[in-house]
Amino acid sequence: MSLVVSQPVVARLTRSAIFLVVTINPGAGAEATVRGLCADLSSLLRGVGFRDLDGQLSCIMGVGSEAWDRLFGAPRPKDLHPFREICGVHTAVSTPGDILFHLRAASMDLCFELATHIMSRLAGAVTVVDEVHGFKSFDDRDLLGFVDGTENPVGQAADVATLIGDEDARFAGGSYVIVQKYLHDLERWNKVPVEEQENIIGRHKLSDIEQPDAVKKPYAHNVLTSIEENGEQIQILRDNMPFGEVGKSEFGTYFIGYARAPQPIETMLDNMFIGNPPGTYDHLLDFSRAATGCLFFVPTATFLDDVDPDAEPATGTSAHEPSTTSQPEASQTETPQPALSRGDGSLGIGSLKERGTI
Ligand code: HEM
Repeated sequence: MSLVVSQPVVARLTRSAIFLVVTINPGAGAEATVRGLCADLSSLLRGVGFRDLDGQLSCIMGVGSEAWDRLFGAPRPKDLHPFREICGVHTAVSTPGDILFHLRAASMDLCFELATHIMSRLAGAVTVVDEVHGFKSFDDRDLLGFVDGTENPVGQAADVATLIGDEDARFAGGSYVIVQKYLHDLERWNKVPVEEQENIIGRHKLSDIEQPDAVKKPYAHNVLTSIEENGEQIQILRDNMPFGEVGKSEFGTYFIGYARAPQPIETMLDNMFIGNPPGTYDHLLDFSRAATGCLFFVPTATFLDDVDPDAEPATGTSAHEPSTTSQPEASQTETPQPALSRGDGSLGIGSLKERGTI
């Protein structure tokens, strides 16, 4: 029997993370080096992770739209496209990024060690365009002081929200991820009365209890990011992390959202930046500026393990042409195929022997 192993998208949230976004340098040699890393990533992860088995080290590698063509060619994941800039009341910028590494662990030493090995394998082949070291803050709070992550789906609901199923069978078990680096104007935010801060988030600050629906403002963050399809709530999986540099007065939240299609996250972003209805935008954005924005496809660990560094990108007619409009057929009620195995954040990335492609 063949088994396809997902990357550990649904791994437990950890206390430390590194977010590395790189672009691939010009030339076929750089592409071959990156393909070489794909095949070796699971081995690097085992090597570092085995040094501290309680350390929950995991790594997710995502591939941007243009990079996919350069590295692998056809077929393409059907909803993979560059991050769309949104110009609303505020702007969600689209910034360069070919590959994302999302490293998570109980402590920063593990993330740092693995990131060092990854970068030394990629030396000369990539340019780092953004590197953020995130930490968990008290009670899982962001630097605005609110608990962040409460309404994340867990267990099977997280699998259903994040893992591609029959809607793109060739890439089943994969996922999409959007990242944005937000910088907060904390000085101004801290002058806003707590009651109004709570209206902006839609939850109580100290207790983290949700405001009653009748009380929530239409511009509340949790109103604009709650979306439904056919009466069912569409969920995404977030693992936001605070980061910053005190000496530079830099205080931020690194937003990272996984989903089985980009469209739910894009709808949330439209609601936040343009407003729903237009004009009723997310007032969090009056205090938080999106400095980056990228979209990546997260192939399965099995796919990465099987990458041949010397294989030229395949050309020809793709089963799915690149989509710029992103109208996924994904329904949140479909469950991923039974032959899939979730990456569980252990060192199991790509370690299963019985495998093949769907
Ligand atoms: C400055 C950046 C952001 C901050 C500080 C932030 C913070 C928060 C906080 C404090 C909550 C309430 C607790 C929770 O359920 O996690 C929340 C909920 C949520 N956020 Fe964000 N967020 C940010 C950006 C985003 C973005 C860009 C998206 C999606 C595109 C998003 C999607 C959501 C969703 C889906 C929820 C849960 C809503 C619900 O079902 O109640 N957030 N966020």
